[in-house]
Amino acid sequence: MSQDPSTEVVARELRGNILLVMINNPPVNALGVAVRCGIVAAIDAADADPAVQAVLIIGTGRNFIAGADIREFGKPPLPPSLPDVCNRIEACSKPVVAAIHGAALGGGLEIALAAHYRLAATDVKLGLPEVQLGLMPGAGGTQRTPRLIGAKAALDLMLSGRHMGAEEAHALGLVDRLGHSNDILADGLAYTQELLATHAPVRRTRDAQALSDRQANRASIEAVRAETGKKSRGLFSPLKIVEAVEAALDKSFDEGLRIERELFLQCLDSAQRAGLIHAFFAEREVLKAPETRNTKPRAIAHVGVVGGGTMGAGIAVAVLDAGLSVTMIERDEAALARGHAHIEKVYNGLIAKGRMTTDAKAANLARFVGSTSYDALAPADIVIEAVFEDMAVKQAVFAELDRVCKPGAVLATNTSYLDIDVIAASISRPADVVGLHFFSPANIMKLLEIVVPAKVSADVVATAFELAKKLHKVPVRAGVCDGFIGNRILAAYRMAADYMMEDGASPYQIDQAVRDFGYPMGPFQVSDLAGGDIGWATRKRKAATRDPRARYVQIADRICERGWFGQKTGRGYYLYPEGARTGTPDPEIEAIIDAERARAGITPRSFTNEEIMRRYMAAMINEGANVVHQRIALRPLDVDVTFLYGYGFPRHRGGPMKYADTLGLPKVLADIREFAKEDPLFWQPSPLLVELVERGANFDSLNKSE
Ligand code: 3HC
Ligand code: NAI
Repeated sequence: MSQDPSTEVVARELRGNILLVMINNPPVNALGVAVRCGIVAAIDAADADPAVQAVLIIGTGRNFIAGADIREFGKPPLPPSLPDVCNRIEACSKPVVAAIHGAALGGGLEIALAAHYRLAATDVKLGLPEVQLGLMPGAGGTQRTPRLIGAKAALDLMLSGRHMGAEEAHALGLVDRLGHSNDILADGLAYTQELLATHAPVRRTRDAQALSDRQANRASIEAVRAETGKKSRGLFSPLKIVEAVEAALDKSFDEGLRIERELFLQCLDSAQRAGLIHAFFAEREVLKAPETRNTKPRAIAHVGVVGGGTMGAGIAVAVLDAGLSVTMIERDEAALARGHAHIEKVYNGLIAKGRMTTDAKAANLARFVGSTSYDALAPADIVIEAVFEDMAVKQAVFAELDRVCKPGAVLATNTSYLDIDVIAASISRPADVVGLHFFSPANIMKLLEIVVPAKVSADVVATAFELAKKLHKVPVRAGVCDGFIGNRILAAYRMAADYMMEDGASPYQIDQAVRDFGYPMGPFQVSDLAGGDIGWATRKRKAATRDPRARYVQIADRICERGWFGQKTGRGYYLYPEGARTGTPDPEIEAIIDAERARAGITPRSFTNEEIMRRYMAAMINEGANVVHQRIALRPLDVDVTFLYGYGFPRHRGGPMKYADTLGLPKVLADIREFAKEDPLFWQPSPLLVELVERGANFDSLNKSE
């Protein structure tokens, strides 16, 4: 019966009277069809072999089992199904033990729950994260978990998708025993032997009794249902999870499993599932830029930050939080003190909310040094410049960096729009210059655009990806152009929003339509939050190079001329009386818009919310296609990840390019051609979009080609 564990995805080995079943399917032991077949065969063998008294299931490598094989979703299912595998384990006539280390997630935890006894190593991550993929546990998880730990705790696991550690799982009764060595096999064998020695019976989770207090469990389900309805904002699977847990309370186990299957298949069929799984893979694919494949990054421990304003201070916090050292350079002592105070304020805010201890703050600040002398940057491995958005100022800073930095130091700029090739060409070491475009607030926003100028060396780009990893950011590789990936596409759909505003839609209606689509905020709310002056400065800077034939909406300029920059000035598109965070519509803004419409000779017309989104998304997708076509983004998925992590794009739609595929590219192109009848200059179909429609292909086909 013994087989070579290195060649079998499910290897079996008889250890005395225990059948050891080892899941060996790198990288994460996902439950693909071969693994499912192997487990069933192992349990069949255990039942049939009188020499076997018990079964021990473990995972090889770093994890127990990471769940169903996500790559199989959306393809024709192959038997045995995962629920059947779990049922087969549970039905085994001999005690089955799961000894868990690393991740036991989704179907991985469901396998463990189908076993009769569970042991967890101290490093485990247990969870039912299916909700994050638009799914619900579909292999008995919604029926076994509440029977084992009660409806409340089970719903918490399934609706949050969070990972649970060993102690908590033990306290809840999700696992029976904690391992005490670093050797999961030794711990698992010892536990199984102990169970045999004490004649421990086969104990099936389907018979567990945590739902026996029906009244209390029903109350928990009702409370969670009410809260989930409010919180899940158009998401499909959370309420299905609640429904399945209710079936666990009200129905027999087998009927509950049938209901779970039905609900699971509904989730599997949904566009939300497709969008969320696209996001899961896309955020891993972005890490695989050409420069990261075979290039060793340079070492980074000490980071210089030039500029202690909004971005510089936020970047410094992000770097300190990652355990690295920071030297901040400012123009003068007063500006340096402001930068320092900004960092303090961030930490004090966290302490007030109970999210940081004063000791942790002190430890972070012990790694912070401020200076007004560039010479202090001599030890820095990487310097991130975040001074005013002005080419002359930036070039002066880079000249200083060229003078003081050690050979091999990476020189990065956080510019939003300026030409990084020009910055690089102005110093003696262009191969060391890269763009690191953080998003505000830099210590919170996950996106980091890594902007790759023509002359940069591959190991500098690899170092930028390495820094992103240390800072827990999601890096996206971008080429040099005005606005890189994100802000360039933003400019296009913001313009579409401004056109609609001038043509008759109110900013409040547009924001509402965008929120209904799934964004946390609409574009005019975002402008008020970021500060209208930022966009105003950009518009002024670009005024000289603007195409004189292009339509230009002046409403934002009229608002900025009044000093109404949004939240920080108490009014922008919205009113924020007495520092309110949520704005209220402003009749004076509507009067300004009316006056501008009259000046431009426009008779306002009405828009439906659906038409607003058609135009908004068509502009975003079309410019996204241009960005891919011009290789500013490597693939459509890089655009998707940029928007998911930098611009609040609703994750369940997968990103703008995935959404375009969901709509169908012919429809998007037809919309653009229809809008082009009004404004052919703005609505020029992207050549890539036209080509894909002609070929009958979609954006996703380009994700696979790299
Ligand atoms: N199926 C297929 N591939 C998977 C996978 C899965 N469940 N989980 C991870 N992978 C792949 C990743 O795509 C990645 O592939 P790549 O190297 O080609 O990019 C590789 O495995 C390694 O993954 P990570 O880079 O994420 O590795 P980490 O060590 O950082 O994290 C992990 C490991 C915590 C297990 C993380 O991968 C994870 O959270 N995985 C998803 C877990 C999950 O959602 N499980 C539920 C699945 S749905 C389900 O089980 C339905 C059932 O109820 C019926
Ligand atoms: P800011 O005006 O808040 O801060 C700039 C800081 O640079 C000021 O504190 C100033 O004293 C300092 N400074 C100016 N010249 C200097 C010099 N020669 N040496 C040292 N310090 C100097 O500006 P903000 O918003 O932090 O922007 C900085 C950069 O980040 C700009 O390039 C901007 O385009 C970019 N950016 C801004 C984002 C935002 O949302 N604010 C988002 C992403 C990038």
